[in-house]
Amino acid sequence: MNNNFLNDIDKGLSNTPKYLLSKYFYDKKGDALFVDIMNMPEYYLTRAEFDIFKNQTQNIIEGLQLNKDTFFELIELGAGDGTKTKELLKVLDTEKYNFNYIPIDISQNALDQLKESVNTELPHVKTTTKQGDYFEVLGSLKQSNHPKIILFLGSNIGNLSDALAKDFLTKLSDSLKSNDKVLLGLDLIKSKNIVLPAYNDSQGITKRFNLNLLDRINNEFGADFDTDLFIHQPEYTEEEGIARSYLVSTISQNVTIKSLNKTFHFVEGERIHTETSRKYNDTILNSYLENTSLKIIDKLIDSKQYFADYILDKK
Ligand code: AVJ
Repeated sequence: MNNNFLNDIDKGLSNTPKYLLSKYFYDKKGDALFVDIMNMPEYYLTRAEFDIFKNQTQNIIEGLQLNKDTFFELIELGAGDGTKTKELLKVLDTEKYNFNYIPIDISQNALDQLKESVNTELPHVKTTTKQGDYFEVLGSLKQSNHPKIILFLGSNIGNLSDALAKDFLTKLSDSLKSNDKVLLGLDLIKSKNIVLPAYNDSQGITKRFNLNLLDRINNEFGADFDTDLFIHQPEYTEEEGIARSYLVSTISQNVTIKSLNKTFHFVEGERIHTETSRKYNDTILNSYLENTSLKIIDKLIDSKQYFADYILDKK
């Protein structure tokens, strides 16, 4: 079964303070809830980046220095439902660029749905999916010698701590060849009155998304989390530029996880940190890139200036 997940749960709930890793949000129900999140009015990130993909497609193609005569692999990390990417795929297809689309995601379910929808909507686009987490798939990049474009959209890297994000970009840089490009979508640091509602929507979808992690542990590992006894708590400060989500135990309680043969105690008000969503500016990105051979060569911003797609060149 899914042993990494179980080990990570044990590690996280045994830690002080308690945490669970956000990559485990995405089971079938979590995938669907995330699609709902992307469609809700408060979650500006998706619409802002969609605006760039829809209205600045030629700028993306120019920024990536794509050439119709040269075959390339378009590799997307954390592809999800591919709505934004399809805007680019459409134009690349119509203009007869020569490429394969390779979406990679932790969720096989999301990949299956994506492959099917690309096949239906864009039958000429060759699509090969790969399942795995970001770090796992890095190694496999070196297996092909073709020029590569890496899409890493949606501010997905924001779920990693600064140290891990830096490490990830260093490893990504090391797996690329000179002139390969990365399109990195980052949510920009902005005021709390815009960012916090994106993680605390009025319909309670984000709350259900967060609590689904406990349901998932109940279903997969015979745990007895009572989701009515935990509340969703998001936080954000503009100075730090990091949104964090927690699940807070409303009472003193014990939770048993059968597959681990263990009971975890929660004091009243004790929190499980479940997600970090970092926001960015040029300075932060440049600090990530310091020890890599990736360099910012272009930056596309949506009309509201909420979100940026950075284009990085491997030197
Ligand atoms: C997919 C990681 C970009 O952090 O904004 C949305 C996930 N979590 N609402 C984010 C998420 C809660 C999202 N990322």
